Amino acid sequence: MRLFKFLIMLHHGGCLAILTERFLMDSLIIRRPDDWHLHLRDGAMMRHVVKYSAEQFGRALIMPNLRPPITRVDQALDYQARILEALPASTSFQPLMSLYLTDTTPVSEVIAAAENPFILGFKLYPSGATTNSEEGVTDIEKIYGLLETMERLDLVLQIHGEVTDPDIDIFDREKVFIERELIPLTERFPALRMVLEHVTTREGVDFVRSSPDTIAATVTAHHLLYNRNHLLAGGVRPHYYCLPVLKRQIHRQALLQAVTSGNPKFFLGTDSAPHPRGSKESACGCAGCFTAPAALAMYAQAFESQGALSKLEDFASSFGADFYRLPRNQALITLQRESWKLPDVLLYDDAEIIPLNAGETIPWKL
Ligand code: NCD
Ligand code: ZN
Repeated sequence: MRLFKFLIMLHHGGCLAILTERFLMDSLIIRRPDDWHLHLRDGAMMRHVVKYSAEQFGRALIMPNLRPPITRVDQALDYQARILEALPASTSFQPLMSLYLTDTTPVSEVIAAAENPFILGFKLYPSGATTNSEEGVTDIEKIYGLLETMERLDLVLQIHGEVTDPDIDIFDREKVFIERELIPLTERFPALRMVLEHVTTREGVDFVRSSPDTIAATVTAHHLLYNRNHLLAGGVRPHYYCLPVLKRQIHRQALLQAVTSGNPKFFLGTDSAPHPRGSKESACGCAGCFTAPAALAMYAQAFESQGALSKLEDFASSFGADFYRLPRNQALITLQRESWKLPDVLLYDDAEIIPLNAGETIPWKL
C-alpha cells in the first residue's frame, strides 16, 4: 500500500510539488529583487508611482521614452536625480538609466554613456513600435556605427523587438523582428550584449535559448499570467493592452517554462507602464499595463502555478544583476501568503491610474 502511494506520488511529481508548496510555503524569503525594465514617466505621475517599485525592488532600469525622449547622458542624470528626489526617505532604491537611441545619436554620446556607471545601455525602439517611439530608429543599418562602438565599449542594447511593417500581423511582429533584424544583428555584432525586452513568444524564447550568452531576455508578470483572451474575450479590456500585445496560450506556456527552467538568460523586467485612465479607456487606447503595485506578488503567483516558487529568487534577484555585471543585492525581503485586494483606482493630483488587476485579490503580499 505504501509502495503504491509512493508510486502515485512519483507519477504526479509536478502536482506533488505544487501541493507541497501549497502546504509548506506560507512565506518566501528571497534576496531583494531588481526590475530590469520599468517606465516611471516624469513629474506628478513619476512622483506618485515610484514608491511602488521602491518598496519591492533594489534597483530598476528606467526606460527613456519620455516626451521629449532621454537621448543624452546629461538628460538621463537629471531624470535620475528627479527620481531620487521623489523617493520616500527610508528607501535605498537605485534607478539606473537607459538612453533612447535615435538615427542621429552621436558616437560621442555612446562613449560618454560607457564612462558613466549609472547608464547601463541604450534602448532600441523601432520607430512607431510603441508608446513614444516616434523618434526611434527608422532603419537599424543607420546605427551600425553606434552598435559597433557599443559592442567595443561593452554597453548593453535593450531591444523592443517588434517590426513596425503594417503588413505584418500584430501578433507576429516579435517573431518577424527576430527573423529580419535580430538574427542578422547577432551575426554582425557577435560580442554586443543584447536584451530582448519583454519577450512574449515561443519563437522569442527559442531564439534566446539557442543564442550565445551575450543574448538575454526580460519577462513581464502580465505575459506570464495572461493570454490574449484576457484582453479580448467577453469584451475589450483596455488595461490589458500593452505592446508587445498578449499572445495565445502556447506562448504563455513557453514563457512560464523558460522562467522556471533556471536558465540565467531569462530575468525579471516588469515593463510596468502607467498611463492616465482616460488615455487607456478611450476609442484608441494606448499601450501599457501598470503592474508596479503588485508586481512581485504577480510573479510569485505565476511561479507558484508551475510548482516552481523555488526558482523565483534567481529569476527575480540574481540573473539580471549577473547579466549586467552588477553585484547581487544583499538585503532580503519576505513574501507572505496573504490575500489582499488591489485598489480599484489610484489617485494622483487630479488624475487617476487604473492598475492591472484593479479590485482583484492577490494571494501573495510583500
Ligand atoms: C510602454 C509605455 O507605455 O511606455 N508600453 C507598453 O505597452 N509596454 C512602452 C513599451 O515598452 O512598449
Ligand atoms: Zn517598456
